[in-house]
Amino acid sequence: MPMSSAFENRLYPRLDEIVAHFGTPFHIYDEAGIRDTGERLKAAFAGIPGFREYFAVKALPNPAVLEIMVDMGFGFDCSSIAELELSRRVGGNGDDLMFTSNNTTRREFAAAMADGGSIINLDDISLIEKLPQMPELICFRYNPGQRRTGNAIIGKPVEAKYGVSHDQLLRAYAIAQDRGAKRFGLHTMLASNERDYTYMVQTAAMLLEQVERISVALGIGFDFINIGGGLGIPYRPEDAPLKTDAMAREITTLFNDFAMRNGSMPRLYMESGRYMTGPHGVLVTQVINRKEIYRTYVGVDACMSSLMRPGMYNAYHHITVPGKRETDSPQIVDVVGSLCENNDKFAIQRPLPPIAEGDLVVIHDTGAHGHAMGFNYNGKLRPKELLFRQDGTVA
Ligand SMILES: Cc1ncc(COP(=O)(O)O)c(C=O)c1O
Repeated sequence: MPMSSAFENRLYPRLDEIVAHFGTPFHIYDEAGIRDTGERLKAAFAGIPGFREYFAVKALPNPAVLEIMVDMGFGFDCSSIAELELSRRVGGNGDDLMFTSNNTTRREFAAAMADGGSIINLDDISLIEKLPQMPELICFRYNPGQRRTGNAIIGKPVEAKYGVSHDQLLRAYAIAQDRGAKRFGLHTMLASNERDYTYMVQTAAMLLEQVERISVALGIGFDFINIGGGLGIPYRPEDAPLKTDAMAREITTLFNDFAMRNGSMPRLYMESGRYMTGPHGVLVTQVINRKEIYRTYVGVDACMSSLMRPGMYNAYHHITVPGKRETDSPQIVDVVGSLCENNDKFAIQRPLPPIAEGDLVVIHDTGAHGHAMGFNYNGKLRPKELLFRQDGTVA
């Protein structure tokens, strides 16, 4: 289900008051929901010692939300100096930070290794030369090429710009070892918004296999593998949720088997963004116009600059109208913003209950890759971000 009924039950009775105080449009995030998802993830992987989620900062780089992640014991996956800076300001330090960037500059590596450092995850063998020096702990991002299929969103690994190719991988670790690296990690990210849990199980199996191969060849051990983000969420009411417990159970079995064969196991890291916060945010906007031409347009006071996933990926975001049921004599409408762009549409030909000027419209699942992808075309400002705290206050 989009937006949990628990969040709806917390938010809807307070919505008019929150709208009156803050004004629309705004994204509002649900602290209780984020914590619940984080605790469930930790519990699911409790069988793998040292399991850690490195929250993908790019998904929701809001300091108040990052503080919740710190409180849950999570680290941060950062892809830029700005994301490192945000993570450090909320207390992330050293091994709490994983720097996974691509097409990286020397300046970015210097920033990632300064101020207490971070775990450097190299996207290419050529980037070894761009490091100020070889850190003690180094990780490489693996691109398995035709050995694996990517999913629909992330595309085929052979066509993806990311990572070290299969043929280069051993050499990458050999060079790092030669230059003084003592501890090692292996990373990949092959799927995006994938609700089939077996993808992640296959990814873990693939990385553990590479760890065994490289360890034997070079006589090194691995501190961790990182299976990336990409866990999917159900954006449509009919979508089945990811089977997190089955995924964790099967990955834990892989790790135990690895330990039986090798005497010890690496730690497991993941860097989910969407899974952690996506369902725990909504965009609240108000209807400012209705227009009847060849189609019916419901014009709202948010636009694509607040949420570009529908315009950019044709992505579905569920929409509800508080106080009106979906089955109330639905009308087929397009829900649109005010940008001078015809793809500035939150929904196209969507059956919704009759909507009048002044109604509130709630766009679901905006807690990840929503506000963060915003922009200022046409001079439109991005909306506020509010946090619905566990104690019922709104910040
Ligand atoms: C390297 C890396 N890690 C993690 C993520 C987070 O992905 P998701 O929010 O789908 O979990 C991304 C997303 O772009 C990414 O590029």
